Amino acid sequence: MFAVSKLIIEGGHKLEGEISVHGAKNSALPVLAATMLCQGQSVIHNCPGLSDVEASVRILRHLGCKIQRDGSTLAVDSRNIVTCDIPDELMREMRSSIVFLGAIVSRMGCARLSFPGGCELGPRPIDLHLKALRQMGLLIDEQHGYLDCKVKSHLKGAHIALSFPSVGATENIMLAAVLAKGTTVITNAAREPEIIDLANYLNACGGKITGAGGGVVTIDGVAQLHGTEHTVIPDRIAATTFLTAAAITGSKLGLKDIDVGHLSQVIPMFEEAGCIVRWEGARMEIASPRKLHPIKIVRTMPYPGFPTDAQAPVMAMATLASGTSVFVENIFESRYKHAGELLRMGANIKVEGKVAVVEGVQNLYGAQVEAPDLRGGAALVVAGLAAEGATQLTGLHHIDRGYESMEHSLTSIGAKVRRI
Ligand code: UD1
Repeated sequence: MFAVSKLIIEGGHKLEGEISVHGAKNSALPVLAATMLCQGQSVIHNCPGLSDVEASVRILRHLGCKIQRDGSTLAVDSRNIVTCDIPDELMREMRSSIVFLGAIVSRMGCARLSFPGGCELGPRPIDLHLKALRQMGLLIDEQHGYLDCKVKSHLKGAHIALSFPSVGATENIMLAAVLAKGTTVITNAAREPEIIDLANYLNACGGKITGAGGGVVTIDGVAQLHGTEHTVIPDRIAATTFLTAAAITGSKLGLKDIDVGHLSQVIPMFEEAGCIVRWEGARMEIASPRKLHPIKIVRTMPYPGFPTDAQAPVMAMATLASGTSVFVENIFESRYKHAGELLRMGANIKVEGKVAVVEGVQNLYGAQVEAPDLRGGAALVVAGLAAEGATQLTGLHHIDRGYESMEHSLTSIGAKVRRI
């Protein structure tokens, strides 16, 4: 018999003090993939200690990079790339491993990898990635779950119109285009802050990318990239999760090391719920009422809309509001799996397709629940902090993908959470 790890969350304790927000998972992963494009060493600061970051490190090592970690700094030496394949078990460890495809073909002219694993949020196709790379001259043979890719001579710049502003596809195209021959123009590109961070890193390495953060990104291919030093942006979803934890427990909490510009879509939700949010520079403070107000409607949209990754923790918070909140999930199918677990804790939620209607209840109760995915798991932690009694949460591998020792962070601000 082997034991399953659990978080035991004793609800009903107010949070207090200040918490530092770690570097963004969704920035660190593409930036780490990008390090393999350099003929030299890159030093990446503010890399969070997450299992997805470790999975990226394992992939880079397999490809031939030498990596040293010192706290949250990773030094990646990619002078000697020795292979263009990623074994199936490494691809399956992390859904976002597909972002390595653009980088590997860019550096090596070939790639062999399997489809990224799982269907955590419903089907996650990669058709936009493959169509774009084919437009750039990549020959892709899809067989038996593997992608066998090669380039005749060079990847070529192309005009790529994305039918949806996919974050991963935009990143993959940037990685492929930065060393391609000629100019690539992406229209309807994703505009997330993580795209800007990737462009800033690549430009510091000698790349020529303009327009990142807007709908049109232009990449002039260069012959070679060199290593550089780069600091990953703060994690806007981790910051939002801590804000929901403060709000649901009626607490006053400080956040430091944030970028408030990346939180402009979520701050109004907290204000609507009756919280007072103040910020200056990289610090923010939230003061929460005894009873939260409902949020009329939360619609998830591509950036700069409300982030789909924040939907679950904000829903947890809405379960204890004094009325009805409505959620519309426009980005992923099956992104309401946490709703079923929240029901076990006494929440009142009805889901119909893309829409979830949350009727606020008086109390949540501790229960045995399982994290269905990364942000759904975070939502259950948030709910547990405000529930009467103890919540036992399993499925912690999901949470460890995106939150750096969640239990230590929360304990440091007064929560009673332990891992057994
Ligand atoms: C990234 C984030 C993830 C976030 C998501 C949306 C990383 C590592 N992950 O995921 O946390 O929830 O953005 O903000 O940065 N789609 C297709 N075909 C494709 C690609 C995407 O149909 O080839 C669809 C997806 O199924 C989904 C939507 O487009 O419905 C958005 O996906 P995308 O923006 O690509 O998300 P990811 O890059 O996977």
